[in-house]
Amino acid sequence: MDIKSLVSRMTLEEKISLLSGADFWTTTPVQRLGIPALKVSDGPNGARGANFRGGMTSACFPASVSLAATFDRDLAARIGKALAEETLTKGANVLLGPTVCLHRDPRGGRNFESFSEDPYLAGELATQYILGLQREGIGATIKHYACNEQETRRFTIDARVSERALREIYLKPFEIAVKNAHPWVVMTSFNLVNGEHSDSNKQLLDILRSWGFDGLVMSDWGGVNSVAPSLNAGLDLEMPGPPNKYSPSMVLAALENGEVSENTLNARVEALLRLLERTGKFASPEIPEERAVDSPEHRTLIRQAGAEGIVLLKNKNGALPIQKDRVKSVALLGFSKEYLGHGGGSAQVNSHRRITPYEAFEAAVGDSIELRYAQGAKAMRNLPVLSSNLMDDEGNPGATLHVWRMSDIDEGGTKANVAEAFFVSNEKSDATAATMTATFIPTITGNHYLGFSTVGNTTIFINDEPVFRYEGNYPDVMAFLFGVATEEKKQYYFIAGQEYRIRIEAKSAQDTTSGLETYALNIVGFMLTFMTEREHDGDLLSEAVETAQSSDVAVVFVGNTPSWETEGVDRESMDLPRDGSLDRLIAATAAVNPNTIVVNSTGTPITMPWLESVSAVLQTWFPGQEAGHAIVDVLLGKVNPGGKLPVTFPKSIADALSYGNFPGNLDELKVEYAEDVFIGYRHFDRRPEGVQFPFGFGLSYTTFELHNATAVPDLMSDNHGSIDVAVDVTNTGSLAGSEVVQVYVGPATSSVLVNRPIKELAGFAKIWLEPHETRRVPILVTMDSAAYWSEALSAWAVDAGAYRIYVGTSSVDIKCTLDFEVAGGFSFLP
Ligand code: BGC
Repeated sequence: MDIKSLVSRMTLEEKISLLSGADFWTTTPVQRLGIPALKVSDGPNGARGANFRGGMTSACFPASVSLAATFDRDLAARIGKALAEETLTKGANVLLGPTVCLHRDPRGGRNFESFSEDPYLAGELATQYILGLQREGIGATIKHYACNEQETRRFTIDARVSERALREIYLKPFEIAVKNAHPWVVMTSFNLVNGEHSDSNKQLLDILRSWGFDGLVMSDWGGVNSVAPSLNAGLDLEMPGPPNKYSPSMVLAALENGEVSENTLNARVEALLRLLERTGKFASPEIPEERAVDSPEHRTLIRQAGAEGIVLLKNKNGALPIQKDRVKSVALLGFSKEYLGHGGGSAQVNSHRRITPYEAFEAAVGDSIELRYAQGAKAMRNLPVLSSNLMDDEGNPGATLHVWRMSDIDEGGTKANVAEAFFVSNEKSDATAATMTATFIPTITGNHYLGFSTVGNTTIFINDEPVFRYEGNYPDVMAFLFGVATEEKKQYYFIAGQEYRIRIEAKSAQDTTSGLETYALNIVGFMLTFMTEREHDGDLLSEAVETAQSSDVAVVFVGNTPSWETEGVDRESMDLPRDGSLDRLIAATAAVNPNTIVVNSTGTPITMPWLESVSAVLQTWFPGQEAGHAIVDVLLGKVNPGGKLPVTFPKSIADALSYGNFPGNLDELKVEYAEDVFIGYRHFDRRPEGVQFPFGFGLSYTTFELHNATAVPDLMSDNHGSIDVAVDVTNTGSLAGSEVVQVYVGPATSSVLVNRPIKELAGFAKIWLEPHETRRVPILVTMDSAAYWSEALSAWAVDAGAYRIYVGTSSVDIKCTLDFEVAGGFSFLP
């Protein structure tokens, strides 16, 4: 296809129309010239399709942090391939993933969606994921470029980061993946980097192109902040449509006053056309209907991958695996009947299957083990939205919603299933009002709980009595949007069988904090939640303790539900929810049962005040739709765990170096990346007393030994920029299993002047071994791992001096070290 000639045949209006989406998920077609529309889908751990909630079901793959814990490049490529198949079932040709921002702080709401605290690990796995997708003709979207390491004020926060930390840490996964996998799309981040919004950040986009990027640069949803600066910096596509900034009138004005040249416009348009060509859209222009295809192959892959990512953190006296023939009863406590397969926000997937640990256990043991369930603790963030025993104005289940625009047209009553609404009016000037009415007939008499959250200007009446009121703009629209706004809670006495008239009156509010123009419009949003007194205040703990006491083994399932780890908000602490209730459940269980096993499903580290008292701990992350099977496969020993931590687990949040600088100064809207390059283990290597579990750590049901490590040659120069490291690995136990050999590199002497981490991951390899089998594992160390970013030279620099290679099975379990020499310092360009 001759793209340049196609562009030359387009009118100015046609070109401008291609700069923004046609709607939420598709690009704009130009019928006259046969230019098709292309659909995109979130990403990254499934292809969700067009609906944020509900909609067609999709395969839910393990979250990226779980994939990172496998340290398995081949698996990442297989998942990429399967995701390509999934993307097609949703009529899309581009997946909005992978997310490669770093785990800067354990409280990051979206950490689960990205890989690791280490840029090399993130870059290597993202590379394979992208190759897997794109080999099938589906475009990958690497995101969010750059420095989107937090959710708090993500539209307006300015990440202040040194050039060196940018290059060595925050841009590094992008650099590795762009150079090795050539993603077809990059999505910019909402935030600013060193004073400039990412979408108009010419410096960042120039760096991207310097790596050879020749794809399309797409904004995050609503994240275009300017017209000419963004077009000139190289932001090709504003999403979603209709446009906020790349509108015909605004772009025409920028062309007319000379702020943007037609050549620049052509370059932006060419990028989109290239993407259409790469994804085969010219040949198959139709966008098929969304389908739900629950394939057996994907189920198997997800189950295997989920299990492979599980990290065995503690296993006292071989408490795991649970011996089916020796155990008669198992207590399954906490979240055993919850599906914790994914995190929240745009990565949330309406999973084909939602396998809970309880049902997986039942399926695996049949009648051979007695299973006893007790919930033991509640960990919900907000109460559930009032949805039962509600009657709308017509007498049908649900509620009635009326909406008025300023133009005073009642759009007519619409049906709502639950006492919840959220909408944004199209016009900035078009103030909106809404009422929701319903009759609630409780089934139990009592002092039940009601909860209320809103974006502002809302009053809730029960039988004409105001029960909740919030006037003005509520400070956090994003949290509301993702269903996690702070809830005001109170008790209300209800009599069973009586009718209670509920009326919600809302006037539009304005988003005062996000800074995102879409939400500067008039918005109405409210939520009424409900829980019976018994459900809310019942003593769950005693029952769980009794159940644990009378069982041979007690497994306590804990973690973060999607409302605790989600887009739009960061967590306040590193503690399990809620108010210590899950921690109390574990401690109380361990006090009565010496065989207490903790299974933690979070995307981030947690504090473990009970660690000493329990026998075993599994970190499962969010393993996808087969979550329960993956976990039970490991608990029962069907799978020998081989996962390794892609993030350090600090003892407490205060041990993280980012602690005082996360989420930053919210008055000034700045976050200082003051820890500079000392992220994760790069910091903890200097302060090991703050570590609960180190980066790269994970146990197995078997044991391994490393020996005979060699490094050839023991010199590095710009002519001989790589070293072959090799080591023998022996499975010294009696079970087949996997080990991850990790190679780190760092300066060995102080002749290297720059303040550098003690060591940094330079290579890794995963190996599967039968009992007593030995294999030699080769790992190539390149000059990239000896280099740091020299701000003076604007280049990578390797100082002369002695360097050390650390070969181990975690960042702390170093089995051997080898030295090499750089005789003369040298530098090289990215
Ligand atoms: C997220 C993106 C996502 C987009 C579309 C944004 O809020 O930051 O990662 O792809 O929404 O859902």
